[in-house]
Amino acid sequence: MSAPRVVRVSESQWRAFAMLRLRALEDTLGGDDSQYRHEVTFTAAQWRRRLREHAQFALLVDDRMVGLIGAQRETLDSVYLYSLWLEPAVRHRGLAHHLLEAAVTWARDERVKAVTLRVNTGNDAARSVYEGLGFAVDPAAARRRDGEVTMRLVVS
Ligand SMILES: CC(C)(COP(=O)(O)OP(=O)(O)OC[C@H]1O[C@@H](n2cnc3c(N)ncnc32)[C@H](O)[C@@H]1OP(=O)(O)O)[C@@H](O)C(=O)NCCC(=O)NCCS
Repeated sequence: MSAPRVVRVSESQWRAFAMLRLRALEDTLGGDDSQYRHEVTFTAAQWRRRLREHAQFALLVDDRMVGLIGAQRETLDSVYLYSLWLEPAVRHRGLAHHLLEAAVTWARDERVKAVTLRVNTGNDAARSVYEGLGFAVDPAAARRRDGEVTMRLVVS
């Protein structure tokens, strides 16, 4: 196995990105979920727009995309991270932090003050990855959905 590396997904890689994104949605939400049913209808132009509007990072193992995280400007001062996901076959090897680090580095380069994300309270694996990089639960943030908390990292 070659050393894992993280790349920002370019527009020209939209097919591989779309396949992995749909696999991630099906794995986490199920094929009946409205988000999956919405994105499965995306055209090439819509996938390309997603890659232009949000920064998407992919984890490559042996040159194959096996994990993703998305990042978008939330406000002038903050970046929001979403959809951290690894293929089940590569979980439990400490790989998710590479994706998180890449997204946080991108946010720093965007010169924002903070990075936020949301996580289910019971998702211990994800919380451990986020806490490992310094994210902490933001008590001031309103809970948007039951069972989720907002975590925040100050980057400047
Ligand atoms: C969450 C996820 C990205 C973690 O990636 P990973 O590379 O497998 O995580 P790691 O191997 O670094 O494990 C992180 C920690 O969780 C622990 N862990 C791993 N799998 C676990 C599990 N199923 N239940 C509880 N703890 C678990 C590990 O022991 C490790 O603990 P440590 O930090 O004390 O050493 C991955 O499991 C995944 O893709 N899950 C499905 C999608 C998801 O939940 N995304 C998060 C959305 S907010």
